[in-house]
Amino acid sequence: MGLTNDIVENWTARVETERQRTSPPDGFRPLPDIPAGRYIDPAHFELEKTAMWQKTWLYAAHIDQFPEPGSFVMWRHGSAPILIMRGDDGELRAFYNTCRHRGAPVVRSATGKAGAVLVCGYHGWSHDRQGKLRAVSDPRDWQDLDRNCRGLIAVRCERFGNWIFVCEKLDVEPLADFLAPVSRFLTHLPLMQLRLVNRREFDVNCNVKVLIENFLEAYHFKLLHPNTTERIFDNKGTSVHLWDNGHSMMLSPNRRKSWVDPGTVGMPEMAGSTAIERDYNPSYCFSPNLIVPIAPTGMPCVAMWPKTIRTSALEVLWFAPDWGGGERDPLWETRIANFDRIVDEDIQLAEPMQETIESRGFVGIPLNYQERRIYHWHEAVDRKIGAEQISPALRVTPSLRDEVE
Ligand code: FES
Ligand SMILES: [Fe+2]
Repeated sequence: MGLTNDIVENWTARVETERQRTSPPDGFRPLPDIPAGRYIDPAHFELEKTAMWQKTWLYAAHIDQFPEPGSFVMWRHGSAPILIMRGDDGELRAFYNTCRHRGAPVVRSATGKAGAVLVCGYHGWSHDRQGKLRAVSDPRDWQDLDRNCRGLIAVRCERFGNWIFVCEKLDVEPLADFLAPVSRFLTHLPLMQLRLVNRREFDVNCNVKVLIENFLEAYHFKLLHPNTTERIFDNKGTSVHLWDNGHSMMLSPNRRKSWVDPGTVGMPEMAGSTAIERDYNPSYCFSPNLIVPIAPTGMPCVAMWPKTIRTSALEVLWFAPDWGGGERDPLWETRIANFDRIVDEDIQLAEPMQETIESRGFVGIPLNYQERRIYHWHEAVDRKIGAEQISPALRVTPSLRDEVE
C-alpha cells in the first residue's frame, strides 16, 4: 500500500487537527500511571529480558555488513553472542556462537570473514558457513557421534529490505507479519536499496526504558533541544499513530513548509518519497527499540538495548539511498555530527535520571495525551510477556486498544 494520496491527505489533516486542538479530544480518558517498579524492580527487568527481548524480532545488522560468503557479525544484544553469517549459498543465517562440544566460542572476533571452515579453537571441531558440523578432531575417539545433530544451534534470521532481524524464539511469527502494521506504510519507498552510511554504538548509564521513551515523544523538545529539533519542527502539530504489535509513529510538521535540511542538499533522494517525508518528520517506532525517522535523503535510526537494569547501549545507524560508486558525500560528516548533538542532549538528561528514578520520590509516571505512544509501548510489552506473568502491581492496564489503527 505505502503512502497513497489518501493516506497523505489523511495524515496531513490530522496534523492540522492537532495544531488546532486546545485539549485532548473528547473521549480520551486520562491514562493510569505507569508503575515505578517497571523501571527499577530487578525481577521485572529479568522477566522483560527473557519473556520479551529474547522472544521478539530485533534489528541486528544491515546487508552491507555481509559483502561475501563467510562475512559475519557477532551480535551481542541477545541472551548470548549470536553469529550472523552469509553462507556459501548467499543466505544470511544466525546461530549461537557456541560449539556443540564443550561450549567454546567458535568465532572470537566481532566481525570479519570466515574461511570455508570455522574451526573451534578449543579442540578443533570444524563447521561450514551454514553452521553444520563437518568434522571432529581424533575421530577414532568418537563412537556414534551424529554430526548432523551437533551443528551450531540456529536462531531465526529474516530480512526486511536490507535490514537483518533476529529472534531467539524459534516459533515466532514471520518477520514480515510482525512488521506488517508499520511496513504497510513504507512500501512506496525503495528500502531494499538503502545502504549503511554509518554505525556507532555506545554505552549509556541508564535503564533502557528511559532511552526508548525519550524517543517516543516530542514533549521534551522545547527544553532539551531548543536549538535543534524544536527549531525545525512545529510540535504543536505532532500527531500520534498507534499500530498493532506495539509499533507506532509520530508525525511532526516542519515549521517551514519547503524547508530542506541544508546538510542534505545534493544528496540522492529515495524514489517515491511523498510530502510526508519531505515536509514532515515521520518518526516510526519498530517495536520494541528501533526508531526510524524517514527523510527523502535517508535517515538516522536509533536502536536501544538493555544491558543491566541501569545500563544500556545506544546504536545510531544511518541509512541512505545508494550514492553510486566512490566515497560518500562529504556533507555526511556534518549531518552525522548534527544528529549526534541531539542524541547527546538526550543522554545528558537520561543518565542523571537513572539516579532520580531510583529514588523513593519516584512512584509512578503520569502520561499526557501527546505521550500516549509510551503507554502503547508498555501495553505491547505486557501482551508479549503475558499479563498473568507480571505481578499485579507492575502491570499496565490496557487502555488504548480503541486507538490502535
Ligand atoms: S569446545 Fe569446541 S571443539 Fe571442544
Ligand atoms: Fe530528544
